[in-house]
Amino acid sequence: MKKNNIVLVGGGSTWTPGILKAMTTHLEEFALNKVVLYDIDEDRQEVIGEFAKILFKEEAPDVEVVYTTDKNIAYTDVDFVFCQMRTGGFNMREKDEKTPLSLGVIGQETCGAGGFAYGLRSIRDMVEMVKEVRRLSPEAWILNYTNPAAIVALALDKIFPEEERILNICDQPVNLLRSYSKLINHDVNDLEPVYFGLNHFGWFTNIFDETGKDRAPELKEIITTGGFKPVDAEQRDQSWLETYAVVKDMLIDFPDYLPNTYLQYYLYPEYKLSQLNPEKTRTDEVREGREKKVFEECRRIVANGTARDSKVVHNDAHGDMMVEVAASIANNLRKTFVVIVKNNGIISNLPNDSMVEVAASLGANGPAPYAVGEIGTFYKGLIENQYAFEKLTVEAYIEESYGKALQALTLNRTIVDAKKARQVLDALIKDNKEYWPELR
Ligand code: G6P
Ligand code: MN
Repeated sequence: MKKNNIVLVGGGSTWTPGILKAMTTHLEEFALNKVVLYDIDEDRQEVIGEFAKILFKEEAPDVEVVYTTDKNIAYTDVDFVFCQMRTGGFNMREKDEKTPLSLGVIGQETCGAGGFAYGLRSIRDMVEMVKEVRRLSPEAWILNYTNPAAIVALALDKIFPEEERILNICDQPVNLLRSYSKLINHDVNDLEPVYFGLNHFGWFTNIFDETGKDRAPELKEIITTGGFKPVDAEQRDQSWLETYAVVKDMLIDFPDYLPNTYLQYYLYPEYKLSQLNPEKTRTDEVREGREKKVFEECRRIVANGTARDSKVVHNDAHGDMMVEVAASIANNLRKTFVVIVKNNGIISNLPNDSMVEVAASLGANGPAPYAVGEIGTFYKGLIENQYAFEKLTVEAYIEESYGKALQALTLNRTIVDAKKARQVLDALIKDNKEYWPELR
């Protein structure tokens, strides 16, 4: 089996230890030669990088581990880029959440006005990353987890139409699948999903088990009567538990399909707004929780020189999926994953050029998506509206257009009112001066 060179962009992220751990437990499926961690934040990168050296020394001593803030080192001679950058870091995530909330609309990392703001920041750095990777590693696969994935995927498709080796993915479908599998006491690897929509805006229509039986009806019944929790509920903060709980409400109102958790911001914007606190958002929770826990643990591991006793660093859905996706491509395994791809008729009554999230068989030539066919009027209406928002957001960036930005925000279901949209846009322009093109 070929041994791969990989680079993790956003190597100083709190998600990195879990991904590295997953790499060390999937070596038979995905062989490694070299792992490079790359981040622009030297302090964060050093802590996680030193941890990585210890983890690999103990678990996979043949793999070379490097950490760097130099993109020339990072992008040279790479087989797979795992990209999870966060332009502007948590300080800007905080603004994406708090500025809209202070003006009376949803403020969230990837949805609504917050997602719009983050999208305009991500596009610039993602485009630069793709160009630099192509200069130094023309054949590398770029697996992108950078948010907001819907907007990033659309922008990259528009700016690099010839690219065949960029794949945009999100872990929320697999997080949900794992949570379903617990409810019906079934191995998640034996469940085959049918899914359609846009990223953070989709539904599971069927969940087939290995006998071919659709378990979705049973799952809907269990959730509408007993509620819904993430599979790793004990490790989740309060806001995530609340997020999963709303799935029950969505199923009662719209019982056709199992909804992605993120739909709650679009279906119940007023209710969600009443639950969110503009002074204390998810960013505060992450800073006080995962951020502290992961960095303290990595420092402890480095001080002790061993990661063997760590309970904090463990396999999780996110890390496992990232490595399994790469393995499926590297070794042509053709396993099924829910991924983001160009529609091209998969959902027959949506625009061909939209970037949809669907189940696909993933092999050496990339994703081969399964056909979905026609979707019902309610779902088509919701998706077309959201797609128009995403498309106008990308066009606002490329054309540096204030008018398109205003149209995008007005279309978004979490905003609707054009006067509010203008207020939010003007406030976000101030917040993002260093990151956005000047909108005229
Ligand atoms: C899920 C989503 C990601 C998102 C993350 C936020 O995994 O799929 O797109 O970034 O949640 O998690 P956090 O714990 O940082 O709020
Ligand atoms: Mn996601």
